[in-house]
Amino acid sequence: MDVYGIIGNPVEHSLSPPMHEAAFEERGIDAAFVTFEADPDRIGEAFAGAEALGVDGLTVTLPFKGDALEFSEPDDRARRVGAVNTVDFATDPPTGHNYDLSGAVRAFDHHDVSLDGARTVVVGAGGAARALAFGFEEAGAEVAVANRTESKAHALADDVPGASGHGLDDLPDLMADADVVANATSVGLESDESVAPADAWHADQVAFDAVYTPLETRFLRDAADAGAETIDGAWMLLFQGVEAFETWTGVDAPVEAMDDALRERLAE
Ligand code: ATR
Repeated sequence: MDVYGIIGNPVEHSLSPPMHEAAFEERGIDAAFVTFEADPDRIGEAFAGAEALGVDGLTVTLPFKGDALEFSEPDDRARRVGAVNTVDFATDPPTGHNYDLSGAVRAFDHHDVSLDGARTVVVGAGGAARALAFGFEEAGAEVAVANRTESKAHALADDVPGASGHGLDDLPDLMADADVVANATSVGLESDESVAPADAWHADQVAFDAVYTPLETRFLRDAADAGAETIDGAWMLLFQGVEAFETWTGVDAPVEAMDDALRERLAE
């Protein structure tokens, strides 16, 4: 039996186990998916232990995405973003990937939204914002980063070719000209608030929210009320899982089964 898992802290509410278990079942793969709540003070031992025990692959979540850079050979994207969310132990040394970035881009592809030449606004400057900003830039978009702490927006924009950094005061003006507006802040997580002013949305734009609890955030609802298209946070989660599954197993992922399992768990 193959062994995969997610390593993080906390990790007990992770949606990765039901999503990957559904995929293994659908494809007839004999594998287990385990949650590993690692001690942050012993994260090096945890990665070495996983390798020594013959774990085949790990999804890496907070707070270990930076640590995973040290314990794997990161690919170019993971190196650029400065974070690894998937480790593949089939290679020696294990390879680190950042499928948060490519998963987000794939979520837009899936909705037939072209990022090439699009004017995008990423709100936030943490890990999720970094993945989105690099992903959008790589897909050919123009990127503006807006964050409450403006200096962090500038620091992120300095790393992303061609990007500009802003404070939240600029958000209404940025949204007036944007094709895509993405929330990568924690605003709206378990609360009915939005980081974007409701009256700044317009119909010919696409809203993406990295928050997925709830699935229908205030940010997305305001956008939909203005006639904009919306892409919820489960899509990014889904496609990073799809990319991990395909890397680990070399088999086409059963996207629908994974999506069903994810949304079923989110609806609970
Ligand atoms: P992650 O790594 O998951 O993206 P993070 O690094 O904690 O999370 O980043 C959280 C983001 O949400 C930051 O951009 C934060 O803004 P600051 O850099 O100014 O802290 C943003 N954020 C959190 N609460 C916010 C609020 N009430 N209003 C606006 N932005 C907020």
